[in-house]
Amino acid sequence: MTLSLTVAAPEFGALDTPLLVVALANNPTLTPELQPIDGLTGGALGRALARRDFRGGRDETLHLSGGERGVQRVLLVGMGAASDRVAGVRRAGAIAARQANRSGVGRLAFFAGALSADEVEAAGLGLIAGAWDFKELKSPPPADEERAPLTDATILAADATARDIGLRAARAIGEGHSLARRLGMLPGNICTPEYLADTARDIAKRYGMKITVLGRAEMEKEKMGSFLCVAQGTTQDPKLIAIEYNKGPKGSKPIALVGKGLCFDSGGISIKPAQGMEWMKFDMCGAAGVLGAMEAIGRLELPINVVGLIGSTTNMPSGEAFKPGDVVQASNGKYIEIINTDAEGRLVLADVLVYAKRFDPSAVIDAATLTGACVIALGHTATGVLGTDDALVQEVLDAGKRSGEPGWPLPLWDDYKELIKSDVADIKNSGGRPAGTITAAMFLREFAEGYPWVHLDVAGTAYTESDLGTIPRGPTGVPVGTFVEFVRARAR
Ligand code: BES
Ligand code: MN
Ligand code: ZN
Repeated sequence: MTLSLTVAAPEFGALDTPLLVVALANNPTLTPELQPIDGLTGGALGRALARRDFRGGRDETLHLSGGERGVQRVLLVGMGAASDRVAGVRRAGAIAARQANRSGVGRLAFFAGALSADEVEAAGLGLIAGAWDFKELKSPPPADEERAPLTDATILAADATARDIGLRAARAIGEGHSLARRLGMLPGNICTPEYLADTARDIAKRYGMKITVLGRAEMEKEKMGSFLCVAQGTTQDPKLIAIEYNKGPKGSKPIALVGKGLCFDSGGISIKPAQGMEWMKFDMCGAAGVLGAMEAIGRLELPINVVGLIGSTTNMPSGEAFKPGDVVQASNGKYIEIINTDAEGRLVLADVLVYAKRFDPSAVIDAATLTGACVIALGHTATGVLGTDDALVQEVLDAGKRSGEPGWPLPLWDDYKELIKSDVADIKNSGGRPAGTITAAMFLREFAEGYPWVHLDVAGTAYTESDLGTIPRGPTGVPVGTFVEFVRARAR
């Protein structure tokens, strides 16, 4: 369940909360703003700051005792350098909510001084992200071991307009993040292509969007030989999902958001090593990002046209599976030689990108956990960003930065095309190890024709294999923030 988020004016005397979180930047002092909180702690706050027990460093925390009633505990959270306050309060919110979840206080109030609407939104998104937990597939612990999860958080801010605007955005986008993370965490035997289609149907129904779902038979009619060859090894019906949100001006071109939805990627006949293969349930995080973004856009009621497109299947070996050496034909007529069946994401996306053209989009952004090479290049810190339109690439980089999901550009130069030339077909699906992220995008470019296009390689950023402090092992919610921020900026 997503955290219940509210806002209130910072009236500390009237506050009744088991935990008051106070987020502070580097080298804090007892300013007049903090005087009332110092009173609630019997002077402990002022002493902690004067002794430099707490220095406001990034992620630094210090617990102080409050009263028996009113503010019962205080948690100081450091935000480090004060340069980017939006990022600082977002992170502090997440650190605080995770800590609150562990200690079992159930509710908290969050104070970080004066907040703009963007900062209220960021604090809310941080709190929602930090409180997020996946417990659906675990039996509840014995009652005496149970700690109350954080269910309610109140952001304290003086400016009423900032409070209301920020709260509404945080709730909408937070719901999108939480949906994407939940879908990511669900295993391949539960989160199937059909499950993603049902989730899309549910979103479409709630926000009055139009939905189209193509299965194997419909894709055969569309001659989507590239997508379908990946689905050859599974009995599950592959799904191409299109959700159309049309609250923009009539006739204005939509933005298309495209997601790779491999509910499990075994590698197929070019099978992956057993070690860590379970992580490949996350190979649908691009699709989860599209659904999360559509959920948020529906809630925000943005006045813009958007179409969400998902290509979903499971990459499995079988007697019927596609194999290296096979040649398939995509729906734009291009012949593809299969070199490696583990380079399946680009094959699925190829036909979805061709399909996108029928919506006459103003811009197409796809997100895919596409290459291990991207994890090697940029780690788990930045998303790889490549595209055919420099202005659009910059627009996407800016959106990523604002949302706390940084991206970094890689070149799409014609020189790289050599690496994916085939002896028997128009193109081959793998260029080997050199420039793996770039050659994958070069492959996609062959199908992203007729519109400005940007590709996000989220292989390193959509989920994390180690605890990030703000986020535990598992899905991060990327690229929901980038998608929503991009669409929101265009809707302004
Ligand atoms: N889903 C993987 C990419 C991936 C790897 C995502 C690790 C997250 C973590 C993709 O389908 C894949 O297997 N790519 C291959 C391409 C290669 C065969 C050209 C890869 O990166 O090894
Ligand atoms: Mn693969
Ligand atoms: Zn894959």
